[in-house]
Amino acid sequence: MAQSVKGMRDLFGAELRWFQHIEDTARKCFERHGYREIRTPILEELEVFKRSVGDSSDIVKKEMYDFVDKGGRHVVMRPENTAGVVRAMVEHKLLQTSDPQLLYYIGPQFRYERMQAGRYRQFWQIGAESFGVASPESDAESLVMLYDFLRELGLEKLSFSLNSVGTPESRPAFQAAFRAFFAEREAQFCGDCHRRIEENPLRVLDCKVPTCQKALAGHPLISEFLDEASEKHHARLKELLRDLGVPFTEDPRLVRGLDYYTKTAFEVLSGDIGAQSAILGGGRYDLLVKHLGGPDVPAFGWAIGLDRLAMVCQTLRGEAPHRPPALLIPLGDRATGEAMKLARSLWAAGASVQLETRGVALKKAMTTANRTGIQTVLILGDGELDGGTVTVKHMATGEQEAWPLADLATHLKTL
Ligand code: HAM
Repeated sequence: MAQSVKGMRDLFGAELRWFQHIEDTARKCFERHGYREIRTPILEELEVFKRSVGDSSDIVKKEMYDFVDKGGRHVVMRPENTAGVVRAMVEHKLLQTSDPQLLYYIGPQFRYERMQAGRYRQFWQIGAESFGVASPESDAESLVMLYDFLRELGLEKLSFSLNSVGTPESRPAFQAAFRAFFAEREAQFCGDCHRRIEENPLRVLDCKVPTCQKALAGHPLISEFLDEASEKHHARLKELLRDLGVPFTEDPRLVRGLDYYTKTAFEVLSGDIGAQSAILGGGRYDLLVKHLGGPDVPAFGWAIGLDRLAMVCQTLRGEAPHRPPALLIPLGDRATGEAMKLARSLWAAGASVQLETRGVALKKAMTTANRTGIQTVLILGDGELDGGTVTVKHMATGEQEAWPLADLATHLKTL
C-alpha cells in the first residue's frame, strides 16, 4: 500500500478543523489591521534564499528541497515565505512609494529536517510582513496584532522572548569578541561549528550538538555590542509593549537561524509541543529589500508554525469550534424527490444541511448520524409532507418535535 512521503502528512478531521479555525481567525484579525493577503509560488530560484536566509544557515546548507528543473533552472521549494514575498514586492515594483505595505500569507513550506514531534518536512506557516516603516511603533503594531490574534484563539499565557541583534555596524565588535571566546575553547566545538565561525559566527549559536551548547556557556552576547540606534529602538519598543500590556521576557541569547534580521528579533516557545519548539518567530529586516535588488525599504514580520499552533490549541482547548450540519433523511419515494428540493431551498437560505441520498432505512441513517457527530436529524416522510412539517430529532437529548417547513431555515440557522 502506498504511503505518504516521509515528513509529509495528510490533514483531515479534528486537526484540519483547527487549521481552518486558525486560518479564518487570522484572516479576520489581520484584515482588521489593514493587512492584505499575498500568495507567492512554492518554487523560487535558489538565489532568492541564498541571498536572504543566508548561505551559512542550516536551512540553505542542508534543509532545502532543491533541484534543477527541465529547463535547467536551479529551483527550491520554499523553506519560508519572507524571501518570496520580498522578491515579489521588488519584482512588481510595489515598494516605489513611501506608503507602507502590509501583507500576510498562509501556505505550505518545505524543509528537509529530521522528523520529530511538531517538525515536518512539509509544514504550514501563517505570516505577516510590514514594509516601509522603520519605527519601533511599527514593530509594536505588528506584535500587538500577533498577540491579540493568539488571545483570540484562547492562548492566554504566551510571552514573547525578545532581543535585539543590532545592525552590520554593531556586528564586527561582537564577532571579534565571539571569535576570541571560540578560540579559547575551540577543541570543544564540532566540525560544523569550525566552519560556522569562519563564515558567520552567529550561526555557532544555532548548533544543536549538546557539547557545543555546553561550550557556549558564558559567551559574549550580541546585545552587549549594540550601536546607539539599535539600543534606542529596542528601549522604545519595550516601553511600547509594556504600555500596551503585551507580555515579553528579554532573552539576550536569542538569535535567529536566518541571516536577514536587524535590530528586533523574537520568538515564542511552547512547552506543550516539546521542550525546544518555537511556535513562531520573526523580527526586523531593514536591509533585505535592498539586498534583493529593491529600494532601501525597512521591514518587520514574523511567521507562525501552523502545525505547531494547531497542536497547542488542540492540547489546550480540545475540539475546534465547529458546527456539524443537520442531516435530512427522506423516507419513501415521494419524500426522496421532495427532500432534494427542500434541501436546495435550505442551502439557498444559508442553512447547513447534509442530504441522505442512499435511500436506506431510518435506523441505518441514524447510525451514520451518530457516528459522524451530527446533532440534528430532520426526518421527512409522507406524514410530514401531508402536514407541511418535518420531524426534528435532537441527538444529544433524544427529544423529538415537529417544525413547520416554512420556518425550517430560520430554525436551523439559530441552532
Ligand atoms: P522560522 O523561525 O524559520 O522563521 O519559522 C517560523 C516558524 O515556522 C517556527 O517558529 C516554527 O513554528 C515553524 N517551523 C519551522 N520549521 C518547521 C518544521 N520543520 N515543521 C513545523 N514547523 C516548522 C521564518 O520562517 C521567517 N520567515 C519568519 C519571519 C517572517 N521573519 C520575518 N518575517
